[in-house]
Amino acid sequence: MSQARSHWSNRWTFMLATAGSAIGLGNIWKFPYMTGVNGGSAFVLVFLACIAIVGIPLMMCEIMLGRRAQRNPIDGMHALAQEAGSSRHWKWVGVMGLFAGILILAFYSVIAGWILHYVVEAARGSFIGMDGERAASAFQQFLASPVELALWHTMFIGMTLGVVARGVNAGLEQANKILMPSLFAILLVLLGYSMSVGDFHAALHFMFTPDFSKVTPTAVLSALGHAFFSLSLGMGAVMVYGSYLQRHVSIARTSIYIALADTLVGLLVGIAIFALVFANHLEPGAGPGLIFQTLPIAFGRMPMGTIMGVLFFVLVAFAAWTSAISLVEPAVAWITENSRLNRKQSAWLIGIADWLLGIAVLLSFNLWQDIRLLFGLGIFDTLDKLTTTIMLPLGGLCMAVFAGWYMKTSHVAEELDISPLAYRAWRFTIRYISPLAIVAIFLYLTGLL
Ligand code: PFF
Repeated sequence: MSQARSHWSNRWTFMLATAGSAIGLGNIWKFPYMTGVNGGSAFVLVFLACIAIVGIPLMMCEIMLGRRAQRNPIDGMHALAQEAGSSRHWKWVGVMGLFAGILILAFYSVIAGWILHYVVEAARGSFIGMDGERAASAFQQFLASPVELALWHTMFIGMTLGVVARGVNAGLEQANKILMPSLFAILLVLLGYSMSVGDFHAALHFMFTPDFSKVTPTAVLSALGHAFFSLSLGMGAVMVYGSYLQRHVSIARTSIYIALADTLVGLLVGIAIFALVFANHLEPGAGPGLIFQTLPIAFGRMPMGTIMGVLFFVLVAFAAWTSAISLVEPAVAWITENSRLNRKQSAWLIGIADWLLGIAVLLSFNLWQDIRLLFGLGIFDTLDKLTTTIMLPLGGLCMAVFAGWYMKTSHVAEELDISPLAYRAWRFTIRYISPLAIVAIFLYLTGLL
């Protein structure tokens, strides 16, 4: 099963790119506010368990599927199903993933646009002397302006598809090689800063003193759903990255490193944010507005707040950018490999589709505020819920079932190349634990639990 196609230059670039996909708005925007809303340490603890028990085995599974197939997720699932002697309908897993990526980018890009706007606001010194009221009204005013939102959204779509159009080596690899090390460097600076001026102790206490009474079913299931989103699992992004991976690289070891990097960044950003929040006696459980409404107040009151504010939002922008690239790579790879369009044209096509969808999403914050789609939710929330709580877990479930129950054991073992004991543990997880955990999410969501 091989085709002449691009590959990562080496194992490190694969790891950087996959970590780039994993580390994104999920870690920096969602994880801290979910921790804040779900009572702190209990949520962190459950999240860590979800990453270890479900996340890492599934990441191994998805990379394995991609590398064995050496194709985009749709053709890849088709080819693997043929090899296993099972139904060609498995390709629908790839199809669903491809659409999930396009739908996620539609709202991801809108939020990433807010981040770009906040880079500029921080640089203009708008945070200085900001109080809660002003922070909230500045944010509301921004959300009320479709033109401004569209401007930043357009810019982010352009940045994303611009990279994807350049291909695996000149685009994806090059971007990740620059953006990821910069991201880590900025993170260290911010940590040092929040350690010296923030309330580090309170942040650590909030995030790491376990209080088991707060481990509710809701906390468990939202942690599990977030583990998927955070590791970019279930939609073929990791699979398509795995399909550019050379044969000799250890899938198990790289998966563990990527999951560790993803988790560590989430935790460190969380600590940095909460240290600033607590030092200013602000509210940790503010929800999605945490970094847009609460954090600017903290930056505005602290020494060097302007420069640190800029650095913070640049960090978030870099993280979002490297994730966004991976959201559309499956679609662009599929079109390029199946039509006469070249990469650039495919990127334009997907870019236009996502731009249009994104416009609908950003209008749902103002002019189309009252439009209700699925489950009585607005456009933004519908896309978010549909993808992160249904499509990604469903994709992950199908991949686990396919790898665990349908693929030939010898093929899987050959691809994973781990000790017999580790293999047995992995297989048990992928056959029973991961599917059960995912089914639990669904049952819970439909109110049966
Ligand atoms: N993992 C990304 C984040 O945490 O922000 C989001 C994401 C990227 C999800 C790519 C899924 C994906 F395929």
